[in-house]
Amino acid sequence: MTEEDRSLELQGDALRRLIEAATERILAHIESLPRQPSADVAGGAELARSLAEGDLPETGTPAEELLDLLFDRVIPKSFNTAGPGYLAYIPAGGIPQAAVADLIADSVNRYVGVFAAAPGLAQLEENVVRWFCRIAGLPPAARGVLTSGGSLATFSAVVAARADRLPENFLSGTVYASDQAHYSVEKAARLAGFPAGSVREIATDALFRIRPDELERAIASDRAAGKTPFLLVGNAGTTNTGAVDDLAALAAIARREELWFHVDAAYGGFFLLTAEGRRRMAGIEQADSIVLDPHKGLFLPYGTGALLVRDGDTLRRAHAMTADYLPENAADPELPDYHLLSPELSRDFRGLRVWLPFKLHGVGPFRRNLEEKLELTRWAAERLKAIPGIEILAEPQLSIVAFRLRRDGWTDAELDRINRGLLESINSRKRVYLTGTLLRGRFAIRICVLSFRTHRDRMEAGLEDIRAAVDEVTRITPAS
Ligand SMILES: Cc1ncc(COP(=O)(O)O)c(C=O)c1O
Repeated sequence: MTEEDRSLELQGDALRRLIEAATERILAHIESLPRQPSADVAGGAELARSLAEGDLPETGTPAEELLDLLFDRVIPKSFNTAGPGYLAYIPAGGIPQAAVADLIADSVNRYVGVFAAAPGLAQLEENVVRWFCRIAGLPPAARGVLTSGGSLATFSAVVAARADRLPENFLSGTVYASDQAHYSVEKAARLAGFPAGSVREIATDALFRIRPDELERAIASDRAAGKTPFLLVGNAGTTNTGAVDDLAALAAIARREELWFHVDAAYGGFFLLTAEGRRRMAGIEQADSIVLDPHKGLFLPYGTGALLVRDGDTLRRAHAMTADYLPENAADPELPDYHLLSPELSRDFRGLRVWLPFKLHGVGPFRRNLEEKLELTRWAAERLKAIPGIEILAEPQLSIVAFRLRRDGWTDAELDRINRGLLESINSRKRVYLTGTLLRGRFAIRICVLSFRTHRDRMEAGLEDIRAAVDEVTRITPAS
């Protein structure tokens, strides 16, 4: 075997050529995003089957061939989550500046989970955490970690609350969240060891916000039944409709009932950069813990969430462990040793993907983008109301509006079927991609405006497509 056979170090300028070839493809892809369909997964299962490979690749394949496969065949068959027409689920777009940060982070491959291994880089990540604490209005004792996403952050929040508020035998512990809470709350409770039924689903009001009276009733009846209420989850922007609970009222109940107050701000949190967001989410600064998702409201690529905890020691007590083979932890508690605050030890240097874009641009463009998304959503709601037969099921509280088409005489089953058809018809035009949900059992179509690439022109195209689809559906199913 020759040295060349064994080497994984690209020789000569091969690495530069590989980066340049990938860069060419990436730039062409980004440039074409507005012309790409908003989603195209027709034949996706066949594609997936054709890509399945059982045998190990014993020999190498030229880079160009692999890039062709990715960019020409595989990537196009997907929801265009990076495009301006992606108004589905919770978009973000994925600013490519973060990908440059990832390239640097992966190339230098430093170890930021342990402070001693890369003190300066760990501090850069800590700057990001502290900026987030500042955005949320948390005090100096707050600490946090960047996670792979909101779900993992929620898991650590539940574990921290459990460790802080419950005894070793925690099985009677009970969690409270609204019937609009994201399923990651229930999942986190199950993963943290709580039995089924430990998360109480509290009814919401006409605006899909948790009802404090129902909450207090549930807490009292659980206490009477021998349960141990310990954790209250408030929503700062639900996935369904962007509803924001009355966080100040929830904070007061949590204080009175001695519950850990957690806020799921995965979707809504970064709207705190705007005046309207701060007004809607007043009270969030009283939370014991907060989940934020930079891969939503900061437009980062998927893979970055954050957990902030008011009293950093509680996060540390829940996660800290030591081992003989690790370097000493930082002596100064101000210095970040992330493996003590999180389930992870080895991990990517995800702080850089926030740090670089924030430092490159300053926070201003992020704030203005978020203001624009709020404005575009209000604009879309007004335009929807002007379409005969459209009923708004959820007015925008942040950047989501939910609606359906309704005609006198249609039964519930017809309404459901017709609106599913309407959604399909809108999406078949491929300029925008919307998704549906159930709101109190009724099928609703959602528009969620959060991609940094979505601007007025694409919203106008989307509204045009909605109007055309409504006309089409109404022609097929006239009012009875
Ligand atoms: C309100 C809310 N909470 C939590 C999550 C879970 O976050 P992630 O998908 O980053 O795990 C989401 C995801 O959409 C969400 O919208």
